Amino acid sequence: MGSSYGGAFEMRALTGIFLDTSNIDEIRKYHELGIIRGVTTNPTILVKDGASGWSEVERRCKRIAQAVSPLPVSVEVTTNHPDEMLAQAKLFSSWADNINVKITVHGPEGGVENLRMIHELETNQNIRINVTAMMSAQQCLLAAMAGATYVSIFGGRVNNMGYDSRQEIRRLRQLLDSFNLPAKIIVGSTREVLNIIEWFEAGADIVTAVPSLIEVMLVHPYSKETVRMFLEDGRKLRANA
Ligand code: E4P
Repeated sequence: MGSSYGGAFEMRALTGIFLDTSNIDEIRKYHELGIIRGVTTNPTILVKDGASGWSEVERRCKRIAQAVSPLPVSVEVTTNHPDEMLAQAKLFSSWADNINVKITVHGPEGGVENLRMIHELETNQNIRINVTAMMSAQQCLLAAMAGATYVSIFGGRVNNMGYDSRQEIRRLRQLLDSFNLPAKIIVGSTREVLNIIEWFEAGADIVTAVPSLIEVMLVHPYSKETVRMFLEDGRKLRANA
């Protein structure tokens, strides 16, 4: 059983929760509930989920893309060498129409070269880019100016540095809106269930979440107690029928 995203969904951009995993069983489970709007992966997630070797990465990403199609799936390049990045971006996007390519905002030593690549891929190669590993609104603004479809700020890591991620998200929302930039704000690096709602409230279009957080988001002890009460009284009704 899969979810359908026709009708109203076709009329508007898909925003909401993206599942931050490459575990195909978890992806299928949450996709069937109709509550996710995309999937994000990165090399660290793939390694943690047991992918090893290039052919396994290809097989898994294709399976994920097929399972959630037409929802978007982000696959991150594994190199910071410009020629290899270009080749990988073309390769990943050829695996499925709904795969977009994640590129870090700059390399391990900084530099502006990745912005050139992002601009080239978006404008001349017709490849949708998710610019990742960003910690500030100003980085995201530059990525959005370069033409990125998605700008990913790592809220949990921002908080871990002692800054309030919500302030950066609010600032970014305002900047993108005032410059009329179409980039979607993804907030990732979720650490607590509360992050999901507070980041949407601050202006995120998309929040990424690992599967375990979604389950905690849903289940409430008082809801359980209330359901037990309904079921118990339902039994009484049936017994008296
Ligand atoms: C988002 O797209 C990233 O994959 C992810 O949320 C990174 O989070 P981390 O800080 O847990 O590595």
